[in-house]
This record gives sequence, C-alpha cells and structure tokens, in this order.
Amino acid sequence: MKRIRWGILGTGKIAHKFATAMAQAKNVELIAVGSRQESTAKAFADEFKIPHRHASYEALVRDTDVDAIYVASLNTQHKDHTILCLNAGKAVLCEKPFALNTRETEAMIQTAREKKVFLMEAMWSRFIPAVVKAKELVLAGKIGEIRMLAADFGFRGSDDPKNRVNDPAVGGSSMLDVGIYPLSLAQFLLGDHALMTSTADIGPTGVDRANAVVLQYNSGALAVLSSAVNAVTIHEAFISGTKGEIRIHAPWWRSERVTVYDNGKEIETFSMPHNTYAHEADHVGDCLAAGLTESPVMPLDETRALMKTMDALRASWGIRYPGE
Ligand SMILES: NC(=O)c1ccc[n+]([C@@H]2O[C@H](COP(=O)([O-])OP(=O)(O)OC[C@H]3O[C@@H](n4cnc5c(N)ncnc54)[C@H](OP(=O)(O)O)[C@@H]3O)[C@@H](O)[C@H]2O)c1
Repeated sequence: MKRIRWGILGTGKIAHKFATAMAQAKNVELIAVGSRQESTAKAFADEFKIPHRHASYEALVRDTDVDAIYVASLNTQHKDHTILCLNAGKAVLCEKPFALNTRETEAMIQTAREKKVFLMEAMWSRFIPAVVKAKELVLAGKIGEIRMLAADFGFRGSDDPKNRVNDPAVGGSSMLDVGIYPLSLAQFLLGDHALMTSTADIGPTGVDRANAVVLQYNSGALAVLSSAVNAVTIHEAFISGTKGEIRIHAPWWRSERVTVYDNGKEIETFSMPHNTYAHEADHVGDCLAAGLTESPVMPLDETRALMKTMDALRASWGIRYPGE
C-alpha cells in the first residue's frame, strides 16, 4: 500500500501532539512542516526528524513530495490555509472547528469539490476505537432505539482574555473549542436534530465560557450536551435506548472503555485502547487509497451541519466575531 506523505501546517500545541501520534499510524510518512518562521520550522522538524522544513505555509504547499496536509493553525485561519492547500492539490485534514462559521465552511467545501481534492474535518474522537465500538453497538440494535444521549466536555482553563479560547479575535468560544465534540457525537449517533434550545455563560471577552444545549430529534429522542472552558464536567457519554444503555467511559472523546447495561445492570465491558490522532490519519490514508475525496465517517455535509448548528447557537447567545 502506498505510504501517504504528510506535511503539517503550523507548529503549535496540537501540531506537536499530531506529529507524536504519527509514529503509531500505518502507511504514513511525516515528510514536511511549514511554519511562519524558519526557526520554528527547524525546531519542529528537528524534534520529529522531518526532512523538509519550510519557512512559510506557501512553501509547504509547493512541496511536490507532499500528498496530504494537516492544518493546525488558529480557528480564524483554517479557511484560508485549507484553501491554500486545496488549490495546490493537497489533500487536507483540517483541525476542528473546521472554520469560524458556515460562510467560511461553504467556501472550503466548494473549493474541495470543484478541485476534486480530499478534505476532512479532524474530528479525531470519531475514529478512536471506543467511539467506533459504541456506534457499532447502536447500529447493531444492542440498546434498541436511542431515547437519550448525555455528553459533555468541560475543563477549567485560563482566565486570560488573550488565551486562544477566550479571545474573539481568534475565534475563542467554549462551543467551538470543546462543545463541538459532544455536538459532533450527537450528530454521529442521531443525525440531524429537529429542535434545539440552549443557554450560555458569556465571559468578559464576549464569548461563551460554558454552555448547555438540548437537541430533540424527530423520533422524540433527546441529546443533553454541555461544555465549558471554565469548569470541569463529568466527561462521560451515556447513550440510553429502549433496550439498554452504553457508557463511553470518561474521558469519552479519548476513552479506552465501553460498557453495555440493561436497565442499569452491567452486561459487558469492552477494553478499547487507542493511538490518539493516529486513527484519523489512518482513515485519511484509507480514503486516499480508495480514491475518495470525502470521508464516509466525517462527511463534509455533516461538517456543514455542525457549523450551522454552532452558528445558530452563537446567534442566539448574541456572539459575533470581528468581521462577521
Ligand atoms: N484535536 C484536538 O484535540 C485539538 C486540541 C487543541 C486544539 N485543537 C485545534 O487546533 C488549532 C490550533 O490549536 P493549538 O492549541 O495548537 O494553538 P497554538 O498552540 O496557539 O498553535 C497555533 C499555531 O498556528 C500558527 N499561527 C499562524 N498564525 C498565527 C498567529 N497570528 N498567531 C499565533 N499562531 C499562529 C502557529 O504556527 P507557526 O508559528 O508554526 O506558524 C501556531 O503555532 C485550533 O483550531 C484548535 O481548535 C485541536
């Protein structure tokens, strides 16, 4: 099988974690990195033994040896950086949130589809074995029809107004930073919702620091979701159906354990170790090997649906980013 030759755009925290995880992925070669500065490109390349180091993102996308680029820049830059890569014919795995809003998302999707180049949101939690297992159990009818999903992602982060998650100038928001994970899980398990209600705690910088969202589906099922960047939450996902329940143990988005219950009585527990971001990289490799331009697991139409939901939530909380 052909090895996918990856480049990484940006050298921040998540770029480091992704590069570390690449060592566990199949059929990948991390061959290039692009940074705004030569010094950071070199330091990153030395740390991960990456042969091609580029002192600009433009030079990275011109690297003819690169097949796929992982976009690991700030929320406000995902659109321009993704389009830069797509226009150079590179497959793209773009960090979440995919963009700031639906308008930007549409531009990215349109470019990928016009150019027939692979594009996927890096919603890595969908690819870890525990979440894959939970979905398989649901599809196999193990818990009957879903009646209720509860999921959350909250941490106690910095109060610094300039911190990435608090600063509206770089797309700060609890919802865009971590609320997107439970929202994506609800979309993964239940599809499009019919009704939505929510509330948020807006911080001094004008963006949400915590929020609670309830979605209702045509079947009547409910998803009760919450997120925070100023408070720790329970970190579990609990899926309750007409015939049983599934717990994706905390922290559910990188869980290593799934338990099935029948009316609260434990039936079976699965141990599901994972290799963090390697699973999403492997999935991109599988898609490229199969000649796909979109992922069947994290399709662009679902990315757009998630972004529309987040736009509606932000609008209802009165949050607008500069330039919107
Ligand atoms: N999947 C996950 O688990 C996960 C976790 C955390 C974050 N994320 C997402 O990943 C993205 C990056 O987050 P992060 O925590 O890695 O952020 P970070 O540490 O601040 O890194 C962001 C990178 O963006 C590049 N950049 C370009 N222009 C910049 C500017 N004007 N100011 C600052 N940086 C600039 C920089 O790379 P160069 O200096 O090399 O150019 C920088 O290192 C965000 O969209 C975030 O939502 C995902």
